[in-house]
Amino acid sequence: MVEFRLPKNSTVGKGKVFPAPVGAANVKSFRVYRWSPDDGANPAIDTYELDLDKIGPMVLDALIYIKNDVDPTLTFRRSCREGICGSCAMNIDGENTLACLKPIAEVKKAVAISPLPHMPVVKDLVPDLSGAYAQFRSIEPWLQSDTAPPPDAERKQSIEERAKLDGMWECILCFCCTTSCPSYWWNGDRYLGPATLLAAYRWIADSRDEHAGDRLDALEDPLKLYACRTIMNCTQTCPKGLNPAKAIAEIKKLQLERKM
Ligand code: SF4
Ligand code: SF4
Ligand code: FES
Repeated sequence: MVEFRLPKNSTVGKGKVFPAPVGAANVKSFRVYRWSPDDGANPAIDTYELDLDKIGPMVLDALIYIKNDVDPTLTFRRSCREGICGSCAMNIDGENTLACLKPIAEVKKAVAISPLPHMPVVKDLVPDLSGAYAQFRSIEPWLQSDTAPPPDAERKQSIEERAKLDGMWECILCFCCTTSCPSYWWNGDRYLGPATLLAAYRWIADSRDEHAGDRLDALEDPLKLYACRTIMNCTQTCPKGLNPAKAIAEIKKLQLERKM
């Protein structure tokens, strides 16, 4: 059985075990991080033994089954169950990903599930992302232009200009990347992290935006941008196959070119 790798002095307890129904033939264990701000207890890992013949193929299907049929106290976020909303981001089998896109069959033994790492926990699998959202807001993620748009048409781009945004507009702000980044773990109060920097570059690279210079000025800071050490966890973990590390490298390159 897969165990959470916890330090010897960890205060995370063993938790409850919810056994499989009698007669279940296709049983798999789901080991889920539990913590509530309401009972004063330490965190614990509860074990749910589920009959796979009763649930859908994805880890999110298992969590929904637990919530509906086994233990209604389990708390997690989800909405679209299509990999679009980013709500169900969590750590599954040691990797940050989306529960709705993670097939149970990909996890060989017990499925270990915990909240996105190094964020405060609101409850169970729900991380507090308010700091990350505030950082996202700080880069002003909207089109800024001093030129009025044409009166009877939208602002146009060439096919080549539009293509520069590919690999960035697809970001669903799940923060799997940011919470996998060691630099963010160490300096999350100052370093903006890969999700927000990818968004920053998305606007810097947009031919319709006229404030790229201001955006680059705002990022010229020893920690906001340069705390990235090119460790690449972000790109490796992104469930949408995006490359935030490359976007960060592009911003650094532009900063360098401005100084030459
Ligand atoms: S490349 Fe940069 S942002 Fe990505 S994980 Fe490494 S340090 Fe973090
Ligand atoms: S870059 Fe990928 S991992 Fe990061 S927030 Fe966007 S979709 Fe999620
Ligand atoms: S539920 Fe929306 S991305 Fe998983």
